[in-house]
Amino acid sequence: MSADVKLLIISDDVGQAEEIKARVSNIFPNNQYLAPREVRREIVRIQPDIVLLHEPKDDSGLQLLHYIKKELASTLVIYLTEYRDPIRARDVNRAGSFDILFLPDEITALSDVLNRAVKAKEAKQKAVSEATASFSWGRGQVIAFYGGKGGCGRSLIASTLAQTIQLDSNSSVLLVDLNLQYGGLETYMNVENSRSIYDLTPVLQELNDNHIRNVTTIEPNSQVEVLVSPCDAEIAEEVTEEHIQRLLRASRLYYDYILVDLPTEMNAIVYSALEEADRMFYVMNPDAPSMRTLNRVLELFNKLGVDPNGRLEILLNRISRETELTSKDVKQYFEYPIVGELREDTKKIQQMINRGKPLRASRRERGLTIFSKDIQKLARWLLSQESSRSVS
Ligand SMILES: Nc1ncnc2c1ncn2[C@@H]1O[C@H](COP(=O)(O)OP(=O)(O)O)[C@@H](O)[C@H]1O
Ligand SMILES: [Mg+2]
Repeated sequence: MSADVKLLIISDDVGQAEEIKARVSNIFPNNQYLAPREVRREIVRIQPDIVLLHEPKDDSGLQLLHYIKKELASTLVIYLTEYRDPIRARDVNRAGSFDILFLPDEITALSDVLNRAVKAKEAKQKAVSEATASFSWGRGQVIAFYGGKGGCGRSLIASTLAQTIQLDSNSSVLLVDLNLQYGGLETYMNVENSRSIYDLTPVLQELNDNHIRNVTTIEPNSQVEVLVSPCDAEIAEEVTEEHIQRLLRASRLYYDYILVDLPTEMNAIVYSALEEADRMFYVMNPDAPSMRTLNRVLELFNKLGVDPNGRLEILLNRISRETELTSKDVKQYFEYPIVGELREDTKKIQQMINRGKPLRASRRERGLTIFSKDIQKLARWLLSQESSRSVS
């Protein structure tokens, strides 16, 4: 392991440098020596993993340490000095040195300190590579809400889940309404906006978070960011697959969850949203007609080349004592996991809708509807999935 580590010895005392070199060479064959005056010219080119900085007699040690840490933040610097000055030692620590050794006595501890430094270096590299692996897709996940039957609850579930994640966690949420002709989210949230996805057209090739925030609106209670559908059906016609693709790909970089509410009909827009989705939440009621519809949807997916495997997850909505089928029945017919079971709560939901109140409006709420509680459960499950994904 230590053979891969690039070690740099800096000292103005050639004799001392030789002695250090002799001590470490068998463990760190990849080592070299620099005089302090060469540091500024050479160090960035050398890119050492670990530096043994022997304090020069002209007192420039602390300055050099600052310089090295500024240029090469991840390089570990072990500071060697003949002066046992506690104030100097404190400054050296504060400047970010990995350790400090007082010469000549503590030179015997050098190999121990170097071993620790190598371990620290490895641990850090591991953490960085894990972080980059999980970030390579952009951090956010796109969840499409789809269902083969109108009125099955997509918009209500998407909007309540968005509010719940935003209120109950630190994650950021973008809710996108792709019911381009008629919209749908306005029924459940206090969101109206003259801007829509179509207004991104001139900046589509270079989309960033400012562009996106320019066309979204914030739901005032939960602070969920919402991209509403165009209010003009003619403009809606002008929205292309490219809008969808570029918007969703860029949004992954800036939001943790991008929830996309889709209409029932299949068209190029819906197709591209489904293609971009990490998860497809298929919303259905527990009854026989809904099961038949799911079968037809799966056939259509197959024809179009939309791959549901590993992505399609079922949300059963409007469960009550009267419902015809249970989740067990649905499980028997379909191999896709049921990740949410949401109870029927007609009276309360209807009341809230009629009063123009969102189902979730603040962090701590009494008297949540049973539906909102079930959504809360779904949100917790989703958030826990995310953390187990980033750990593995
Ligand atoms: N769990 C539920 N309990 C009671 N009513 C519900 C439930 N889910 C949906 N609804 C009712 O169904 C209506 C249609 O839901 P919506 O989300 O707009 O359907 P979609 O977007 O799939 O067309 C809602 O306005 C609400 O009245
Ligand atoms: Mg809808």
